Amino acid sequence: MKRIGMLLLGSALALSSGCGGDDQLDCRADGADCTLSEAAAQAGVLIGAAFNEKDDPEYLPALIKDFNSVTHEGAMKWGATQPEYGVFNFDKADAMMEFAGANGMTVRGHTLIWEQASLDATPEYVTAITDPEALRTLMADHIRTVVGHYRGRVDAWDVVNEPFETAGSQVYENIFYQLLGPGYIAEAFELAHEADPDATLFLNEALVSNAGAKFDALLALTADLLDQGVPLHGVGLQGHFITGGPNHDELRTNIQKLAALGVVVELTEVDIVLRGTGDEATRLERQRQDYFDLASACVAVDACKRITFWGFTDRHTWIDSFFGPGFAPLPLDENYERKPAYFGVRDGLLSGP
Ligand code: XIL
Repeated sequence: MKRIGMLLLGSALALSSGCGGDDQLDCRADGADCTLSEAAAQAGVLIGAAFNEKDDPEYLPALIKDFNSVTHEGAMKWGATQPEYGVFNFDKADAMMEFAGANGMTVRGHTLIWEQASLDATPEYVTAITDPEALRTLMADHIRTVVGHYRGRVDAWDVVNEPFETAGSQVYENIFYQLLGPGYIAEAFELAHEADPDATLFLNEALVSNAGAKFDALLALTADLLDQGVPLHGVGLQGHFITGGPNHDELRTNIQKLAALGVVVELTEVDIVLRGTGDEATRLERQRQDYFDLASACVAVDACKRITFWGFTDRHTWIDSFFGPGFAPLPLDENYERKPAYFGVRDGLLSGP
């Protein structure tokens, strides 16, 4: 907490010395050297990054410099907020709220319900339940308590994360599905809406940025929930890629199709693992183009309101802990220097009307 407090001063200085503020510099003007948040402000979108606790004094100042929205990689997941049955712990998430508030950043709450085959943070005491009513009561208590704790302070929640199978386009039959039926998704949204009627509530899904059967299934589920009158306000397209993966036209079309249903859209977990052939410069150029394609697809559609990267510097990325080092998926390099990817994002943001 002390370190976060010390950063407040630094951030206030950083913000006042930039080209943001009331008399905003035109980021498209010759010689303008805007940060990502300045470019995003000009584009009318929010720009965010996921972060974590790191023992690295350069980490948070770099986050503050380029972003105006944050998501914690884990502090709001079930395992963190209710590690034991009935025992809530908001220490890490509260520290994030304080940090965000002091630096004028909005917060994406990630995530209330996420029970998947791998990676998720749902404790065993949840997945071990066999009685539907016991799970229903626990789910209601969890959502009411967590969303209620942040009522009026978290502007968007990923209410249900990854309801579909990772590879495939079927709804994943997690513990909630097994005991409560497919209606668990609608129930979760109703509960979150009661706990904070002003929060924008999201369904968030992986591998749906491009065209395909999984996106079609997500679109159909969204339409179905809206038809039922479920308080679903937004859809998050995660956007974990390897270079060469993003497709501008398909992403823009997907965003437009969701927007036509009446929801807002966000790109919620963007990173692009550096792969492919050619020398490093060629691969970095490919990554720059990919980032441009993503950012420009978002700003091309009014309903796309925010882009969140899953990290921001290659020095600290969740990709390393899963696949090892060297995949360099983010806009800033290991020394917090701007990569071609950074300029791809910025140019993409500024490519809109
Ligand atoms: C990841 C975090 O980045 C890691 O720190 C954690 O160990 C596992 O989860 N999709 C999601 C995110 O929705 O919550 C995941 O975050 C990355 C994949």
